[in-house]
Amino acid sequence: MLSIAGTLRQLGLSALAAAAALSSLSSAAAVSTSNIQVRSLEERAAAGNRLVFCHFMIGIVGDRGSASDYDGDMQRAKAAGIDAFALNIGTDDYTVTQLNYAYQSAANNGMKVFISFDFNWYHPGSDATRVGQLIAQYANQPAQLQVNGRVFASSFAGDGLDVNAMRSAAGTNVYFVPNFHPGQSSNANIDGALNWMGWDSNGNNKAPTPGANVTVAQGDASYQSWLGGKTYLAPVSPWFSTHYGPEVSYSKNFVFPGGALLFNRWQQVLQQGFPMVEIITWNDYGESHYVGPLSSKHGDDGNSKWTNDMPHDGFLDLSTPFIAAYKNGDTNVANYIQTEKVVYWYRRNLKTLNCDATDTTAGRPANNDSGNYFEGIPNGYQTMDDNVYVVTLLKSPATLSVTSGGNSQSFNAPAGANIFTVPAGLGKQSFVVNRNGQNILSGTSLMDITNVCACGIYNFNPYVGTLPAGPSDPLSGDGLTSLVSGLRVTTCQPHPSLGTNPSSPVTPPANPTSNSPPPNSPPPASRTSSAPPADPTNCNGGTNAAGQSGNFAGLCSFSCSFGYCPVGPCTCTSFGPAGTPPSGDGRNGCPTAGEPDSYKGLCSFSCSHGYCPEGACQYC
Ligand SMILES: *[C@@H]1O[C@H](CO)[C@@H](O)[C@H](O)[C@H]1NC(C)=O
Ligand SMILES: *[C@@H]1O[C@H](CO)[C@@H](O)[C@H](O)[C@H]1NC(C)=O
Repeated sequence: MLSIAGTLRQLGLSALAAAAALSSLSSAAAVSTSNIQVRSLEERAAAGNRLVFCHFMIGIVGDRGSASDYDGDMQRAKAAGIDAFALNIGTDDYTVTQLNYAYQSAANNGMKVFISFDFNWYHPGSDATRVGQLIAQYANQPAQLQVNGRVFASSFAGDGLDVNAMRSAAGTNVYFVPNFHPGQSSNANIDGALNWMGWDSNGNNKAPTPGANVTVAQGDASYQSWLGGKTYLAPVSPWFSTHYGPEVSYSKNFVFPGGALLFNRWQQVLQQGFPMVEIITWNDYGESHYVGPLSSKHGDDGNSKWTNDMPHDGFLDLSTPFIAAYKNGDTNVANYIQTEKVVYWYRRNLKTLNCDATDTTAGRPANNDSGNYFEGIPNGYQTMDDNVYVVTLLKSPATLSVTSGGNSQSFNAPAGANIFTVPAGLGKQSFVVNRNGQNILSGTSLMDITNVCACGIYNFNPYVGTLPAGPSDPLSGDGLTSLVSGLRVTTCQPHPSLGTNPSSPVTPPANPTSNSPPPNSPPPASRTSSAPPADPTNCNGGTNAAGQSGNFAGLCSFSCSFGYCPVGPCTCTSFGPAGTPPSGDGRNGCPTAGEPDSYKGLCSFSCSHGYCPEGACQYC
């Protein structure tokens, strides 16, 4: 905790440092990385255009003890072209200490940062002043990102926040781009909005099905149309898979389709030229969308079970030339490839592998709406393809050869950035780039694809490698503390083992211990059920969403049956032509005193159609 004197001292220092930073910035019109000129942050920030952020979870780095613990992250992100970290904060007791370190390290390393308030922890209805005051605390720091000369801030969720009250507490005209949702908030007082959904989904925070498929591009369109001309902050994410079991206090066990997502999304971003993009994320290891190093200091919320030995650094390497092209408004990434490289990724098991016998989440009720538990295999796993994905970043054409276990294929790889897929095969994964009869890049991955359930669990997180191989990036220390907790096998140790494992058998051992169900065990329900075709725009039934108060059940049931089924409080349970709602008596509805703003839309819809349940809503 900072004393008031400490805070003042810090602000005094900040003003000086800010002046110094400004004068040094203005002397550099463009940043030159070798012979490629990229538009400077100063120029882009002044125009509020072509800015690149990356979401950074403060909640996982509570173990950091000084600003220098952030230096590695700042330096690597800056080198990749990221302009600023969006510092996602909850309400942990270490939040302010860590924000101080992060702002200091950013200043020391020429990076920018801003706060992104996580409304899983802050309350839109009552925390506007608290949020504004925290913004004020950092507004004059040299590393604070300013857009159009205004202090920038963002959020995760937060619909219903009183933005005017927040700005007034901040004491400055904050450039506010929160993760509000079209239809759930007015766009009147915000400068723009962040769309979090960097993955195709079913519209209800689970993987898409053929009948309920809301693509990332559809999300772009719906945000852009809602925002009118206001700033759209678009998501770019490589992956999503999470597999928390009962060993941690909350559980979630689902995937969104990953595959070629990162490559395709960057191409889309270059074509669409959004004003700002946010890479989701730097270090949310638990949801497997990290592009930052495993070795950067952090704690273990249970994620090490699926992140140990699974570096993602290649995802940032892949992104680097796209970031430069994006900043320059160039749709052709080929002009920005400075070092020829191959980035490859794949899952370590095929999706047919059955880990139910040993998985920590196996035996949980399938798709239990009140607990968000699923049968051991993650919800949505069917949307993952068993492929090896290979991106070539080349200055001139070459031949790419890929061997995935028993599958071998060769491709003509043109100059520029291109993606190739090969069906994943059990065994070794090898890659060769040949030009004019010479192997210019070649290597075998440190991670085999096997039919062993490592640590006894389903793991849908990808292994990402590069040619030439990057530096070793192991998990260590605090990052491994929860690895064995809740495991049902004893073969898994809390230390990195990449490259040291004896190679795994390609055929199953005679008496496998961790990859077969016991005899007579029933087939897992989630593998045989197929979701009925559904149209997400055509909801005609629903209830309160997983984790939401049962007090929403009646409102959701009423509203969803007439096609209004807001994501967040409600979940759609049936699809088809919706009924026509009864006409009300002209009065509108508001949440009952004491109920949060998340009731606003539901009360307005329900009451204006004649259903205004006491205890939730009232006429207003
Ligand atoms: C969702 O739609 C996209 C775009 O058409 C398609 O590529 C993807 O395969 C679809 N996903 C599902 C699960 O149907
Ligand atoms: C769903 O999970 C919750 C939380 O563990 C549990 O209390 C409840 O009994 C489960 N419901 C069903 C239908 O299995």
